[in-house]
Amino acid sequence: MPEYAKSQPAGFTNAIERVAIVGAGGTVGSHFVAALLKTGKHKVTALSRKDSSNTLPEGVLVAPIDYDDEATIVTALKGQQFFIITLSPTAPRDTHSKLVQAAAKAGVPYIMPNSYAGDIEQVKLGEEIMLGPVAQAYRDEINRLGMQWITVCCGFWYDYSLAGGEARFGFDFDKRSLTIYDDGNTKNSVSTLSQVGRAVTKVLSLKELPDDENDESLTVSAWLNNAVYVKSFVVNQNEIFESVKRVTGTSDIDWTVTHEATTKRYEDGLALVKTGNMTGFAKLLYARAFYPDDASDCSAKAHNKLLGLREESLDEATQVGVDMVKELQRRPERMAS
Ligand SMILES: NC(=O)c1ccc[n+]([C@@H]2O[C@H](COP(=O)([O-])OP(=O)(O)OC[C@H]3O[C@@H](n4cnc5c(N)ncnc54)[C@H](OP(=O)(O)O)[C@@H]3O)[C@@H](O)[C@H]2O)c1
Repeated sequence: MPEYAKSQPAGFTNAIERVAIVGAGGTVGSHFVAALLKTGKHKVTALSRKDSSNTLPEGVLVAPIDYDDEATIVTALKGQQFFIITLSPTAPRDTHSKLVQAAAKAGVPYIMPNSYAGDIEQVKLGEEIMLGPVAQAYRDEINRLGMQWITVCCGFWYDYSLAGGEARFGFDFDKRSLTIYDDGNTKNSVSTLSQVGRAVTKVLSLKELPDDENDESLTVSAWLNNAVYVKSFVVNQNEIFESVKRVTGTSDIDWTVTHEATTKRYEDGLALVKTGNMTGFAKLLYARAFYPDDASDCSAKAHNKLLGLREESLDEATQVGVDMVKELQRRPERMAS
């Protein structure tokens, strides 16, 4: 049964005002926080490990938590209307579940689970990159505990993936080398980190529920147990290379370009992961997403227009990526996962 604001108890505000987040100082979480705070409509609480060395953005309320003491998480989540989880892939396996269980005890109705990847409906791709079943289990647990989820399908983060080394978009900026997968013409739909932040903020700034059965305006409730689809660009590696050359003022002679089959890269990455070497993971993940017959492209479902997201410039995003290279090199453990 659809829910309406008119049937809610007195005091119902029909707006998501209190948002809690794990990873407020992280790669994507910091963009959520920046965009949410910019609206002036949301009070953001950062759940952060009490011994965390991450710098948290100004303007967030900080709730120190201890993953071995559930009460600290439940207390931090009491009264929150929406809970965003952006958790490092290096976090212990049971961390996500600890957060979700605590959210249920605290009475949080809606959760954005860790995922931030391609289309959840591309099931075969999800299975072959191993992330699909994990994200499905996160969503299932949220529903099992009586809450609802909104996930984000954004494809690869463009700036991060460009900056993140050869295993991602194939670029090594220190060596000025590029590995092109197959012929470099397979397109992926990708999103800048800031675009992901803006998309989620647009959704969370809508009315929570329609006022009544005649209210056809967009509401947060339209996305419950569903995905926010977002994109910045639909690009292939050859187009990215052209943009990189424009932005860095270089030309073909400055770059060493090699080609490799995506199938071989996928198998090589998988073999490394099977021996416990997680450096193979990014390799298999990106290679598989660029398979010509089943690439990661959810652009046809993108909610950009619906949410009023502005067009972005590829070269500006490439510049952000180039500027991010050194920052990511300072996070070797995170980047190797
Ligand atoms: N689409 C893409 O291209 C793409 C790329 C990378 C990742 N992702 C997805 O996005 C998710 C978030 O990635 P991210 O790079 O934003 O994460 P991140 O910055 O590496 O980490 C986010 C937060 O996790 C917390 N954390 C770190 N280590 C932890 C540990 N051992 N135990 C508990 N918490 C820990 C930290 O919060 P505190 O220090 O405040 O506690 C940190 O700020 C990933 O897990 C992955 O699913 C998508």
